[in-house]
Amino acid sequence: MDTMLPQSSVLIGLLCLGYAGCVWGFARLLDNAELRSAFSVARTNSMEGGPKMTVTFDSVYVNIGGDFDAKAGLFRCRIPGAYYFSFTVGKFPHKDLSVMLMKNRNEVQAIVYEENAGEERKVQSQSVMLQLEFGDTIWLRLHGDPRYALYSNTGHYTTFNGYLIYPDTYGYQMHHHQHHPTSDSQQQENLHLQATEHIKSNARDITVEKELSHKKEEEKEEEEDEEDDRRSAFSVGRTQSILGVDQVGMPQHRPVSFNTAFVNIGEDFNVTEGLFTCRIPGAYYFSFNVGKLPQKTLSVKLMKNHLEVQAMIYDDSQGEKALQSQSLMMALKSGDTVWLYSHQRDGFGAYSNHAKYITFTGFLVYPDITPSSPTSATTSQSQADKRP
Ligand SMILES: *[C@@H]1O[C@H](CO)[C@@H](O)[C@H](O)[C@H]1NC(C)=O
Repeated sequence: MDTMLPQSSVLIGLLCLGYAGCVWGFARLLDNAELRSAFSVARTNSMEGGPKMTVTFDSVYVNIGGDFDAKAGLFRCRIPGAYYFSFTVGKFPHKDLSVMLMKNRNEVQAIVYEENAGEERKVQSQSVMLQLEFGDTIWLRLHGDPRYALYSNTGHYTTFNGYLIYPDTYGYQMHHHQHHPTSDSQQQENLHLQATEHIKSNARDITVEKELSHKKEEEKEEEEDEEDDRRSAFSVGRTQSILGVDQVGMPQHRPVSFNTAFVNIGEDFNVTEGLFTCRIPGAYYFSFNVGKLPQKTLSVKLMKNHLEVQAMIYDDSQGEKALQSQSLMMALKSGDTVWLYSHQRDGFGAYSNHAKYITFTGFLVYPDITPSSPTSATTSQSQADKRP
């Protein structure tokens, strides 16, 4: 019996290890089912332009899903979908600032930039939404010339955030949950019994689920259209500057137009017109970033419907091409329009180029919870004349 003791304790040990592994494995499956991915990181020291251009981070606030490698400075997409990214970088005294948001090896998405080399320290921010496929990487690139540098210290000037807004599998996941009769608590109880089985049949399950999802896609096309109705997001960029001109008579208040769409889920944003029209009533988040022209005053307003100013950017300093940012949430009704207006007068203007200084992003955070009413059609009609 004495010789049996170590053996059985080894066996128990192995069982525990196996059990822990199974719980971990299953927990990961649950994580995947919840489709969560978010990171927020900071850098506590400065960095000078050089051959190693990837901005790395040493302070991690949030890393849900573990998709961000702080030491490498790399976000790797695990869940395909639409992600919101924002970053703020500090300008180093007597250095220029140029930091680009990059996708994969060398696809520039957006930039923060200041060519001034003044002695001041300040921060610049940028934000966009991007549609990512599995394995896509997102990172920040500091200009490789030692003329450039970014500033940070334990005050955390330099930060980088990203999170999943809409996974691509949104519709499928909703159906998946509906077709599972077992509740979460029941699943928890069954977990202990089924853990081993889950690991063994993991690969098989995935194949089966794939087949199921294909079937459901075919069967439930109508339902999925309804699910898609709960999503609305746009993120657009403009590659040309805007110059204000004096207008004769009544000034025309035309929206700032765009020529690049990073994301346009639901097609609620008309890119050439520069106009977002609310389709799903609810609370929306908006952010915009605009570059300053050296000799022009920057004045860009976020408008709702006909000239209702919601928020604005303003900079009448003599500085070079700096960026200014603004963001807020709005409660919108069906038919409400949201757009940007750059002041139309001589002496005003906004800067952009191919690196997209001017960006505009908006997405539905919470749709209104209302029982579907028969008056919704007339409501949207009465809102129709609200377009600018
Ligand atoms: C955007 O608006 C313009 C002008 O109203 C219109 O001609 C065009 O068809 C619209 N584009 C889309 C994609 O709806």
